[in-house]
Amino acid sequence: MTRRGGSVLGATGSVGRNALDVIGRFPRRFRVTALCAGTNARALVALARIHRPEMVCLWEGDAASIRRELPRGTRVVLGEQGMTEAACAKNADIVLAAASGISSLRPVIAAAEAGKRIALANKELLVMAGKFLTAAARRGGAEILPVDSEHSAVFQVIGRNRREDILRVILTASGGPFRCRSLEEMRRATIPEALGHPVWRMGAKISVDSATLMNKGLEVIEATWLFGLPPARIDVLIHPQSVIHSMVEFRDGSVLAQMGIPDMRIPIAYALSYPERLPMELPRLRPHRMEGWGFETPDRKRFPALSLAYGAAETGGTAPAVLNGANEEAVRAFLSHRIGFTDIVRVVDRVLSGWKGSFAARTLKDVLEADTFSRRAARDRISRSRRPTTT
Ligand SMILES: NC(=O)c1ccc[n+]([C@@H]2O[C@H](COP(=O)([O-])OP(=O)(O)OC[C@H]3O[C@@H](n4cnc5c(N)ncnc54)[C@H](OP(=O)(O)O)[C@@H]3O)[C@@H](O)[C@H]2O)c1
Repeated sequence: MTRRGGSVLGATGSVGRNALDVIGRFPRRFRVTALCAGTNARALVALARIHRPEMVCLWEGDAASIRRELPRGTRVVLGEQGMTEAACAKNADIVLAAASGISSLRPVIAAAEAGKRIALANKELLVMAGKFLTAAARRGGAEILPVDSEHSAVFQVIGRNRREDILRVILTASGGPFRCRSLEEMRRATIPEALGHPVWRMGAKISVDSATLMNKGLEVIEATWLFGLPPARIDVLIHPQSVIHSMVEFRDGSVLAQMGIPDMRIPIAYALSYPERLPMELPRLRPHRMEGWGFETPDRKRFPALSLAYGAAETGGTAPAVLNGANEEAVRAFLSHRIGFTDIVRVVDRVLSGWKGSFAARTLKDVLEADTFSRRAARDRISRSRRPTTT
């Protein structure tokens, strides 16, 4: 059995730690080549002492201050260049893209060009620059394997079926913490309420995105790139029990679903070990003990983020980057008490509808510029907003 090396971008986060749990369970199959984080040097050092990577990378920080706390011989690299070195390291066969935001875009593109397997959790990269990331993967002969549980489900269900037999993909959604809340109640929603996802424990940004359903909208865009389908053939269905992770309908009328307990270690392990399945010792799904599985159509009046994301997906080009950049700024503003919960999607809507730039994305630079401008436009709107904020 060959031991495969992995670079973990976003090692200190929710997905990163779950991935390290999987890697730690199979030391004869995997070793950690590099660990990367944003600014949390202390957590990165603690992980490096356990997993003994060749290299650690901080997006921002002081290399000298952590070097003496690391196992002897560990290289410390910084910033985008450092992350690119970590992602393209000779001994890294797999790159787990799980840093939040878009800072890892160029390093992940470089890793795809270098032919690494990309285990992709960081959907924002495909949303923003799907055209360029998938082209880099084609050039480098790299595979992009989904880590998002819904896309992993679709990937598993499609398996050896022919793409031309797919009628539509149905992404399931738990519905988030506000599934049964009125618009008025959502207007008063607090930060802890928005972060209180009923099923998954995740980082703050994706938890808020799950509460607005923007996360599902971003997943629709992610799916267009992963599965080569237009947005009109990707549906969203609320399934509060989160047992069915997604479904695919084929043209003969068959609908195939993938089920499992909601535990990110399962899709992460599959992306790392594909096409093999690892013997994961986790609680098993017991369908006979489960009652009342349900499905609902999402209410787009209460959750307008979905329509905005479908619109951006249809427009294509830089529109998804504009949506994503404005959303990240608005979520950050909500999490720092500057706007209310329902203002998040209002800001995104205003930025998209007031967009004066071009939506053409000929080069990666076009996309990065659209991202910069949309963030600026969102910050302007947020600073002009006089709405009372929630606690
Ligand atoms: N959590 C889930 O279950 C889940 C499921 C599907 C997809 N995803 C996607 O996976 C990604 C990570 O989600 P998460 O929930 O794991 O987030 P998280 O818990 O907030 O962790 C974010 C990670 O990214 C790092 N990071 C932040 N800013 C960075 C920067 N500028 N440069 C490099 N690294 C940076 C953080 O480092 P510090 O600790 O130093 O800040 C941390 O390691 C997101 O794109 C999310 O949409 C998550």
